[in-house]
Amino acid sequence: MNELSINGEKIEELQSLASQNLFMHAQQINDWAGDLRIFVKGEGVWVTDINDNKFLDSTGGLWFKGAGYGRAEIGQAIYEQICEIETPPAMAACIPQIELAGKIAEIYPDKSARSFFTSGGSESVETAVKMAKKYQMNTGKSGAYKIISRRYSYHGATAMAVSLGKPSTSDTMGPEMPGAIHVQNWDSYRIPNNMDPVDYAIHCANQFEEAIKHTGADSVAAMIAEPISVSFGIHVPPKEYWQRLREIADEYNVVLIADEVITGFGRTGKYFATDHWDMIPDITTVAKSLTSGYSPLGAAIATKKISDSFIGTEKEMFLHLITFGGHPGSCAAGLKNLEIYERENLVENSKKMGDYLLNKLENLKSSKIVGDVRGLGLLAAIELVSDKNTKEKLPASLEIQKKIPMYLNESNIFTFRAGDIISLCPPLNINKDEIDFLVEGLSSAINRIEKEV
Ligand SMILES: Cc1ncc(COP(=O)(O)O)c(C=O)c1O
Repeated sequence: MNELSINGEKIEELQSLASQNLFMHAQQINDWAGDLRIFVKGEGVWVTDINDNKFLDSTGGLWFKGAGYGRAEIGQAIYEQICEIETPPAMAACIPQIELAGKIAEIYPDKSARSFFTSGGSESVETAVKMAKKYQMNTGKSGAYKIISRRYSYHGATAMAVSLGKPSTSDTMGPEMPGAIHVQNWDSYRIPNNMDPVDYAIHCANQFEEAIKHTGADSVAAMIAEPISVSFGIHVPPKEYWQRLREIADEYNVVLIADEVITGFGRTGKYFATDHWDMIPDITTVAKSLTSGYSPLGAAIATKKISDSFIGTEKEMFLHLITFGGHPGSCAAGLKNLEIYERENLVENSKKMGDYLLNKLENLKSSKIVGDVRGLGLLAAIELVSDKNTKEKLPASLEIQKKIPMYLNESNIFTFRAGDIISLCPPLNINKDEIDFLVEGLSSAINRIEKEV
């Protein structure tokens, strides 16, 4: 037993308390009550649970652990800020908010971009959508309220954001936001009729144009998409897809929002995923790796074109307020996090280790059930199928969404999401040995499933 171990009695007490009083997010109480996974320590890509078991965290928390675990200096930066002044008086600022906005503009393709800070991804999406509507009001398209998004996307848990992902938890929310329109997502694996991938990508992007034409361009405020949708299975589009979205947005005067809550801050081997495709969205939403999860923070980053439209009288002002959006402690965490990124070349490491990971994953294709491996930087997916020709999914009776996490756990790899699609999003400071360890564990889990098929 090391110094982290907590005695059995304390563990029982915690389990009992959790069973009675804790609401876990998006999890069925029956599944965890009495047996909740509790973690007590993190270092690099490794996490240790309350029973002293060590795991490689293959999804980097909930897709946000850019700089990895155990960065005491980020904790110290938060502490120092809070000891000086934890929050400014109303409608004023603290130094880290200003400096972080400047830092984001420095790494963002539009150097005069303005950041509106929030406390997380859903709020960033809410903010971006409201900005888009207000931009349209201020620039002459005052009746524009519709938002076009893609089916099977995820843009957050709040009532508006949930309307943009389909189908998701909106079934528990009653009617969705009026004006939410959903179009086809981009799928790199099931391209119909042997179509050329670029032609198909343009065909998928054109679904936004179809929807705009059908509903009337004057009523459409914005279109929103994740550069690479994790909820839809990590399909990387060719650059023509986002370039076509940009063209459509310009042609019909629709605000283009890139939801980079997962892909932002180096995940794909560049600071922003849209940097791969030589185009600039009008608004980019970020959160998660902005602080690597050390403190809650998000932002809607608006290009000058958008933010300048709010300059004028009170009528033009963007009237939007979130009490703890851009909390100074969180902004201090963001600044320190990005300092670590630069010092340790984490964006470059994401590219290098991402290439290494993808190369190794290719070898898994020798398994009869590995239909596809794909990814960009350190965001990758393995798709399992029962037949590689038809790309048919594995039968539900196999319950792989329960088995794969269990098998990976036995190889000391932690994942919360693995089924037909095994998603990988490890901390950006992962090294080759750790990738070898991860791929070995994946290979052994997949071999076990293959034998059961
Ligand atoms: C693409 C995307 N947008 C928005 C959100 C919502 O972020 P949050 O959970 O911080 O509110 C998420 C969360 O996973 C996300 O993946």
